[in-house]
Amino acid sequence: MAPAESGKEKAGKENTSMEKDRAALPRTVGYLHQKGGTGKSTLAIATALALTQSGRRVLLLDADYQGTSSEWGNRYGHQCGIETRSQVQPILDREVGRFAGSFDDILIDGPPSLSEMTESILKACSRVIIPVRPALPDVWALPWLAAIIRKLASQGHALQPLVVFNQYSGEPLAPLREEVEKWHLPLHDETLPLDPAFAQVFFGKLPPGPLAEKLLGLLENGQK
Ligand SMILES: Nc1ncnc2c1ncn2[C@@H]1O[C@H](COP(=O)(O)OP(=O)(O)OP(=O)(O)O)[C@@H](O)[C@H]1O
Ligand SMILES: [Mg+2]
Repeated sequence: MAPAESGKEKAGKENTSMEKDRAALPRTVGYLHQKGGTGKSTLAIATALALTQSGRRVLLLDADYQGTSSEWGNRYGHQCGIETRSQVQPILDREVGRFAGSFDDILIDGPPSLSEMTESILKACSRVIIPVRPALPDVWALPWLAAIIRKLASQGHALQPLVVFNQYSGEPLAPLREEVEKWHLPLHDETLPLDPAFAQVFFGKLPPGPLAEKLLGLLENGQK
């Protein structure tokens, strides 16, 4: 008969299996801002293309009833090797575990609203990218999202939000940075330029190398 396992050995094995489970969980990144047109869908799709190009298995989840990412997926998902699904019920935090082992990254394209869905996306994600155009109305809309992020962080959710100026074309950033800092949201030190190449991702075209690097840089930023 095999000798009985000591408590310590058993706990060691359980830890190893928990570590394996965690390692198998895809990296989950949300693109969120309740303001419309800031670049959530563009950045989610462009990043999906950049990640796929680098050999990662990507699931693009469309959490927006407008259906931009799912429509893109219907047209280009197959040829670009990106699986796209629509999930407009606020159950993403429970759903993402289902994809453990099947994908390396899950990118969630969020809706231009604040709702139960916002919380569900935030709970599902380890990284939350908040694109803002370099204009005060986009920045003024941040406090509500910041309040939800603070609430969830206080409940122990490991959120890593990052605000990034998108569609930048030389606007003075200092007053905008000052506004963002009021809400204690980390702000990316690089900007994403206003660049027609971003419109091309809606035709299934890869973002050019330097833009792809910038997009992938948003995911790293000190953490994986
Ligand atoms: N960096 C950029 N350079 C050039 N055009 C951009 C850039 N980012 C976004 N756009 C353009 O801005 C428009 C709005 O972008 P997008 O649809 O991604 O915003 P959104 O936040 O997803 O909007 P919604 O809130 O309606 O879902 C699109 O036409 C897109 O091509
Ligand atoms: Mg969108």
